[in-house]
Parts: sequence; structure tokens; C-alpha cells
Amino acid sequence: MNMNDIVKMMTERRTIRRFRPEQISEKELNAILEAGLHAPNGGGGQSAIIVACQNIELNNELGRISRNVENITGAKMGRVSSEQPSIVDDENIINGFYDAPTVLTIFAQKDNYNQTGDCFVAAENMIIAAWSLGIGSCIVGRSAKTFATERGKEVQAVWGLHDEYEARLHVALGYPEGNTPSYKPRKNGRVIRINPKA
Ligand SMILES: Cc1cc2nc3c(=O)[nH]c(=O)nc-3n(C[C@H](O)[C@H](O)[C@H](O)COP(=O)(O)O)c2cc1C
Repeated sequence: MNMNDIVKMMTERRTIRRFRPEQISEKELNAILEAGLHAPNGGGGQSAIIVACQNIELNNELGRISRNVENITGAKMGRVSSEQPSIVDDENIINGFYDAPTVLTIFAQKDNYNQTGDCFVAAENMIIAAWSLGIGSCIVGRSAKTFATERGKEVQAVWGLHDEYEARLHVALGYPEGNTPSYKPRKNGRVIRINPKA
């Protein structure tokens, strides 16, 4: 079977947590955002809002808040990555966005029925688009808690997003530093096929 290029991208993509400091280009960022904007969306509502922040100081500040809003330990979650440790794996990582130069935050409209789904499919489109351009990404959770802090609320208001919006996830983006993490075998038993005669 020949895998087409998109499937190849999906199977070869890895979460990246080590980024080079230089910023991604405007053209690359725009292509990634276009991919996000064209994601499927519940009821055709296009409800998700993507904030693309390239203010390094602000990204680092929010990344530090994100790191500390929840006490997630390896004991609870197990090891995430030995090659590119996550905050769960390494207590010395102080920035939950791993010093990525661009951080997207995807906000949902709280009263929208499909709010969370819209945000995550947009993120998936963007991380695949990023990978196709040689840009690494890491999805980061805890965003609702990050933006529920006093500083988070302040930043959200400055971004013009009122209470009807709630952050669902972040996508940290940047050029990968070092080797691509190796392939992780897929667990068995995660697909159940019902054949036509069953
Ligand atoms: C919903 C979701 C939340 C995630 N949150 C985090 C996070 O907060 N921090 C982090 O370093 N990685 C996070 N990740 C990335 C996962 O750790 C990563 O996808 C997983 O280890 C599998 O690795 P791979 O993407 O290279 O296949 C998240 C991924 C998803 C889908």
C-alpha cells in the first residue's frame, strides 16, 4: 500500500518539546493558521478562536503559569517522553510551553454545543500543517486553568476575548532542536472492525 503524503505526515509527526529560539516565518505561521481555520467545525459554526502569540516574554510568562496551575507528576501519569521530557518527566522545566517562540491558544465559545471538538480538530489540522513545513509542535493542556488565574484573565481581556470564551488548549510551535523523537509502537486492540456479515 502506498501511503499518501498526508497520512505519512500523520504517522511521522512527533510531539516536539525542544525548540530553536528563532521565530518561524510569517508565511509559515499564516499557512498553519489557514489550516486551522479550515478544520471541520460543528454545525458549520466556526466557533473556535485562535490567538497566535509571538511575544516571547508573554509566552514565557504564560508558560510558567501553565506549568504551575496543576500538580501533575510522573507518579500519576507515568513517563511521557525520555527523549524530549515533558513537565511530568522533568521538574526542572519551568516553562510549560518549552520556550517555543510561537504559542497558539485556542478558545471555545462556552455556550457552543461543539466547543471543545472545534478547538481540537483545528489544533490537529495545525500540527499536521506545521510538521509538513518542518515546524515542530506540542499540544499543551491546562489552558482553562491558566486563563482562570488573575494574570490569565487580564491577558484574555487584553486579547479582546470576554467571558463567553474559554481557552481549551495551546499549541506550542517552533523549529525543532535536535533529533526527531523515535517511533512509539501503537497499542493493540484500539480498532474494532465490524465486518459486513457480523
Ligand atoms: C489533549 C492533549 C493534551 C496534551 N497536553 C500536553 C501537555 O500539557 N504537555 C505536553 O508536554 N504534552 C502534551 N501533549 C502531547 C502528548 O504528550 C503527546 O501527544 C504524546 O506523548 C504522544 O506523543 P506524540 O505526539 O509524539 O505521538 C498533549 C496531547 C494531547 C492530545
